[in-house]
Amino acid sequence: MTKAKRAMKEDIKLIDLIIELVDSRAPLSSRNPDIDELGKGKGRVILLNKADLASEAGNAAWTSYFESKGFQVMKIDARQKTSLKQIHQCIQEACREKIERDRKRGILNRPIRAMVVGIPNVGKSTFINSFAGKAAAKTGNKPGVTKGNQWIRLNKQVELLDTPGILWPKFEDQAVGLRLAFLGSINDEILDKDELASELAAFLSGSCPGLLTERYGITDENKLPYELLGDIAAARSCLTKGGAPDLSRASKLLIDDFRSGKLGRITLEYPEASGNREEKE
Ligand code: G4P
Repeated sequence: MTKAKRAMKEDIKLIDLIIELVDSRAPLSSRNPDIDELGKGKGRVILLNKADLASEAGNAAWTSYFESKGFQVMKIDARQKTSLKQIHQCIQEACREKIERDRKRGILNRPIRAMVVGIPNVGKSTFINSFAGKAAAKTGNKPGVTKGNQWIRLNKQVELLDTPGILWPKFEDQAVGLRLAFLGSINDEILDKDELASELAAFLSGSCPGLLTERYGITDENKLPYELLGDIAAARSCLTKGGAPDLSRASKLLIDDFRSGKLGRITLEYPEASGNREEKE
């Protein structure tokens, strides 16, 4: 077992509930299924984060998918505080059995202890900041406070472990790795950006026909990915000193536009297609 996994196992012993963040644009690719084994017997909430960047149809499909697997599910934009009340309801629902067990034993109002987990860049820190707000700020690194696990008291019902659990992305499957790279969840430095942008251009022209035409004013999407990048470069006047299309600048532009939502709300995978991945594992 890796060190990270062992640490996660220890943390999980302390809690009643796992709040797992996934990226709404690729909810299966952006989760590590090991958490299901590690989190056995715990309450489970899945937050489809960055829902503002994924399609409404995708968000609805993934909500049903995870609900059918027994999770409490909510789509959120972690930067907003608007859904906090609903998240608290979700937490109560996910821990209903525990609350009931406590009640039967005469334990009333013992707070639920929760922990936020997810792969890098999925929005864990942003969520903790929004969710815990001032409470989180108060517990910050104060001198004299012993190192180790600190709890943020959110209200009478919930305490949150102050640091998120970082799950390691799992991408033996090339398609999964590619989606994670599109999202920026895999270090950009280890990937050739032009290659990645060509894959993204190929995906977009195949799955979202008309989108590249609309955004960049290119005329023909039925081209090789590198040619599409060349057309984007020309359309956006990304030219080298010699006047040739600058594919590197076009690549960066396309990837940044996708990641920031400028290309619109795009879901990269849907439950039916990604079901294959589950079968393989
Ligand atoms: P992590 O702790 O899981 O590693 O992720 P973190 O909170 O650092 O978030 C990673 C990036 O994702 C941040 O952007 C953050 O603002 C953005 N983000 C988090 N949740 C959402 C969401 O629901 N919707 C959208 N659109 N973005 C979200 P950044 O550019 O890396 O940093 P910053 O410039 O925003 O600070």
